[in-house]
Amino acid sequence: MTHPGDALPGAEAAVPAHPFWVELFGNDGPVELEVGSGDGTFLRAAAMRDAEVNLLGIENAYPRIRRAEERVAAMGSPRVRTLMADATCVIRTIVPAASVHAYHIYFPDPWPKHRHAKRRVVTPALVRALARTLVPGGHVFLATDVHGYGWLMRGCVLAHPAFVEVPVDDTHGGLLTGFARKYRARGRQVFLATFRRLDAS
Ligand SMILES: C[S@@+](CC[C@H](N)C(=O)[O-])C[C@H]1O[C@@H](n2cnc3c(N)ncnc32)[C@H](O)[C@@H]1O
Repeated sequence: MTHPGDALPGAEAAVPAHPFWVELFGNDGPVELEVGSGDGTFLRAAAMRDAEVNLLGIENAYPRIRRAEERVAAMGSPRVRTLMADATCVIRTIVPAASVHAYHIYFPDPWPKHRHAKRRVVTPALVRALARTLVPGGHVFLATDVHGYGWLMRGCVLAHPAFVEVPVDDTHGGLLTGFARKYRARGRQVFLATFRRLDAS
């Protein structure tokens, strides 16, 4: 669903880089975070797509973050970093306010059993943290092969007054990930959505 007058993805306001990110990346370029970066396939593809963006992949599983670290090290780019941590905790407690240009949340574990649903990463608490840390006009990109979960995540994001849905365009990276490639090879349809952070609220 779009909102009249919404800017398209990629049209964030010019916000000075936060010193926290300048210190980490060594430049004042825009910063994008991937939540659950898996084996780093998206980080690599995104860095090749846009050489000016700074990317941080946060992943909490050791074998996957090792693989991502190997990929990133092989690229030799100071603009791509990985962190082994709980992404929700990092975004809630460490990421500075209004400092991130985009969040990429691709194929988060759907945890289909009711008793496991509390393990899902997209929660109202995460969405509040995304709203706090995104620059005005920043974006949240979502992808999943589990369409019911896609609609649930969409509802969770749109329940926050800071977000509106905008059209999916080619700035969406949800088809560039390891899981996207695997599922698309099997002919699975992928649910994609993009949300824009409004200027105020
Ligand atoms: C299904 S995989 C998708 C990986 C990658 N996004 C892709 O599309 O190829 C979900 C990933 O999210 C990670 N993950 C789950 N909860 C997380 C959390 N709270 N913080 C960081 N990573 C998390 C899992 O370890 C797993 O690697």
